[in-house]
Amino acid sequence: MSDSARPALPFDPYAQAPADAPTVRAPWPAIGHDRPVRAAIIGTGAVAHLHAQAIALDPLAVTVACSNRNAERRTAFADTYDIPGRYETLAELLAAEDVDVVHLCTPPDLHREQTLQAVAAGVHVVCEKPPALSLAELDDMQQACDDAGLAFGIIFQQRTGTGAAHVRALLTSGALGRPLLAQCETLWYRGTDYYAVDWRGRWATEGGGTTLGHGIHQMDLLAHLLGDWAEISAQTWRLDRATDMEDASTATILFANGVVATATSSTLCPRETSHVRIDCEKATIEVEHLYGHAVPNWRITPAPIVDAAEAATWAFPDHDEPSGHIPLIRETFRALREGTVLPDVAGSARRPLEIVTAIYASADAGGRRISAGELRAEGLLATSLESAVRDPRAELGLGVGVPASA
Ligand SMILES: NC(=O)c1ccc[n+]([C@@H]2O[C@H](COP(=O)([O-])OP(=O)(O)OC[C@H]3O[C@@H](n4cnc5c(N)ncnc54)[C@H](O)[C@@H]3O)[C@@H](O)[C@H]2O)c1
Repeated sequence: MSDSARPALPFDPYAQAPADAPTVRAPWPAIGHDRPVRAAIIGTGAVAHLHAQAIALDPLAVTVACSNRNAERRTAFADTYDIPGRYETLAELLAAEDVDVVHLCTPPDLHREQTLQAVAAGVHVVCEKPPALSLAELDDMQQACDDAGLAFGIIFQQRTGTGAAHVRALLTSGALGRPLLAQCETLWYRGTDYYAVDWRGRWATEGGGTTLGHGIHQMDLLAHLLGDWAEISAQTWRLDRATDMEDASTATILFANGVVATATSSTLCPRETSHVRIDCEKATIEVEHLYGHAVPNWRITPAPIVDAAEAATWAFPDHDEPSGHIPLIRETFRALREGTVLPDVAGSARRPLEIVTAIYASADAGGRRISAGELRAEGLLATSLESAVRDPRAELGLGVGVPASA
């Protein structure tokens, strides 16, 4: 169905804000449009390529420098993207270069310290997920950026894309009736080679297992669509991989709007999929993909009570921007250029990290229900997610599991 044939929705799902809403200014001065945003990429490993490519697509942005403690990876990356400034450490880079924003693509245990270094140099931060090893660290980073009037953008790129914006607008407008039930599956596969990388498989450096490292993406998308969580009960499991943390988790999330969701995260699944399903009074919404979604990955199935004319008003537009680092970094840079607050898709990392923290806290308490109020008031696992993980191999006498640190 073309855009012109599509019946008009009573709202524009793609608008950044209602047309008559005043622009929300940020505390930082606008960089403006007379010069490019000057970016630096820290940690030139796997995910750094997505940052370099997204920045290269922005005609008003340039990657002026990069850093990696490993000289070979640093040079190869800088050569690939024609980046002039090359430094072993962030401190050297900040001392030598005039940059507006650093992109932290380093392992999670470095994010807090590197954010504080950037803030001390008066530089905005775009940080890869997971932004921090704990809520206390995250709050510290956010506070430092807020106090300095600097942006703290977080990469949770599953929130982006035309499909997610469309569905979020349908849900918030009430067009689909009340959302009732949801499923959230991150069924990925990571072999032993994945866990062999030095910073993975340990609480101190990776911060958590597959729940924090992988499941957080779809749970973030689910919460982006459904809003605040109210209560979580969960178990974390070590079923196969040699890791100190979990390679699977199973959770029940009660959202503040009454939706009951089940969430499964794992790295043990040969047929990989990422799947979110929300059953509303009038329709089922689903997205099935792996690492990113476009409109064809989304499906809205009307309930039998809905007539064709009403269902037609829910149609996705023809214009389709897939989810990913490209829209997220573009919109973040737009905010830096225009001096406006960060878009929804780049801010508010606390909610997904709270959900993950509550999963570990519940698992640590034998699956007890943890409310959002309790998590916040008691500061459960606030400084580290290290928590008990069940290993059925040991519990059922099937052969003792081997944690990475053994
Ligand atoms: N958003 C996503 O879809 C996505 C995908 C993959 C990874 N990530 C996240 O990105 C981060 C990095 O993951 P990755 O898979 O790219 O890891 P990686 O191991 O491939 O790359 C990390 C790089 O950082 C370098 N490094 C380590 N310490 C450094 C330091 N002090 N200064 C400069 N460089 C340093 C390492 O040499 C390495 O090359 C993690 O937080 C991860 O969870 C996000």
